[in-house]
Order: sequence, then C-alpha cells, then structure tokens
Amino acid sequence: MTTSSLLIVVGSVRNGRFGPVVASWVADRARAHGGFDVDVVDLADVDLPLALPDLSPKAGAHPRPPGMARLTDALEAADAVLIVTPEYNHSYPASLKAAIDWHFTQWTAKPVAFASYGGPSGGRHAVLHLENVLAELHAVPVRDGLSFGEYYLHWDDGRPDDPAAETQAKLVLDVLAWWAAALAQARAAAPYPGA
Ligand SMILES: Cc1cc2nc3c(=O)[nH]c(=O)nc-3n(C[C@H](O)[C@H](O)[C@H](O)COP(=O)(O)O)c2cc1C
Repeated sequence: MTTSSLLIVVGSVRNGRFGPVVASWVADRARAHGGFDVDVVDLADVDLPLALPDLSPKAGAHPRPPGMARLTDALEAADAVLIVTPEYNHSYPASLKAAIDWHFTQWTAKPVAFASYGGPSGGRHAVLHLENVLAELHAVPVRDGLSFGEYYLHWDDGRPDDPAAETQAKLVLDVLAWWAAALAQARAAAPYPGA
C-alpha cells in the first residue's frame, strides 16, 4: 500500500476542550491503518494572529509569524488533512478559520476529511461551512466523515461507545488514502491549473 502523509489538525484551542480526545482516538486509528505517516498539529500550540499581512497568501510573498511555521510546514508536507472540529454557534471555531486563512497553496489539490463533534448535530454545521471554505482554496473535501453527536453522553475513557465508529473510521481513512495517493500523483504529473 502507498504511504501518504496525513496531517491531523486539532481545531479548538479553549481551556478544557474536548478536541484532543477526539484527535488522539482518530490518530491511533490512522497509525494502525497502515496507509499513512501521521502528524498531529494542535492549533493551541500555533501562533495564529487574527491580523493578516497586507499581502494575500495568493500573492506569493506572505510573511508568517515564526510561531506558525510548524503548522505551515506540516500543511506543506501533507498529502491529506483530517480536521478535528467542534461546532461553535453552528459553525467552526475562529482558530480554524485563522489557520485556513493564513495559508493558500498548502491546501491546493489535497483531500480533507473531518471528525466533528458537538451537541445533537454532531458538528455537521461546522463541517458544511468548512467544506464550503476549503473548496475556495482548491482543497478536496471528501464525502465520508466522522461525526460525534452529544459526545458528552457517548464517549468514555477516550473512546466513543458506538462500535460502528471503528468501521466508520476505517472507511474515512480508506477514502482519504485513496484520494491522497491519487492527488499526489496528479500534482506530480502536472501543475494544478486553478487560480
Ligand atoms: C462558543 C460556543 C458555541 C457553541 N455552539 C454550539 C452549537 O452551535 N452547536 C453545538 O452542537 N454545540 C455548540 N457548542 C458546544 C460545543 O460543541 C462543545 O462545548 C464542545 O465541547 C466544544 O468543543 P471543544 O471542547 O473542543 O472546545 C458551543 C460551544 C461553545 C464554546
């Protein structure tokens, strides 16, 4: 099996957050999958100023703070990204929006999957918004994802109590591995034509 670089992003940064629990469970499945070299970046460890530079990341020269380099390098190296996101006010956290907006080419022609969580909707509103935003950056949001509704009732000891979650995680990782290999080949074969 081809091995692709998978970056898992922990999207929430508040004190007492649940995000790292979901990320750790997903990262364990990704490492066991066999199709990935797995890296995890926690946005709580990244300097993510709200004030962007005067030049857009589309313009090329786009200075970033030194404290963002770990994220930029990891996005650059990734063949696929899996974003772990909660739902805040029917969308995703501002930390994730900042992480996305500070970058551009790093997302181009790369598949992105989601592991979302929250109340009854399981973070689906957040994922719908992320899909919309990432398409603008020429990323490829994949259909299959992980969604954990009312996680506070259904997770115990760092894992979801629904056995179907294991099967769904395997499916999401299989789909992501397929897209990661296909798009890595496509990026190597010809420059991506989108602007
Ligand atoms: C500002 C804020 C807004 C929220 N809005 C929603 C919401 O619209 N839908 C939802 O399902 N959960 C909502 N929640 C609950 C979060 O999904 C839940 O607190 C979750 O643990 C947040 O992720 P985190 O712990 O990683 O920060 C909200 C939480 C916060 C802090």
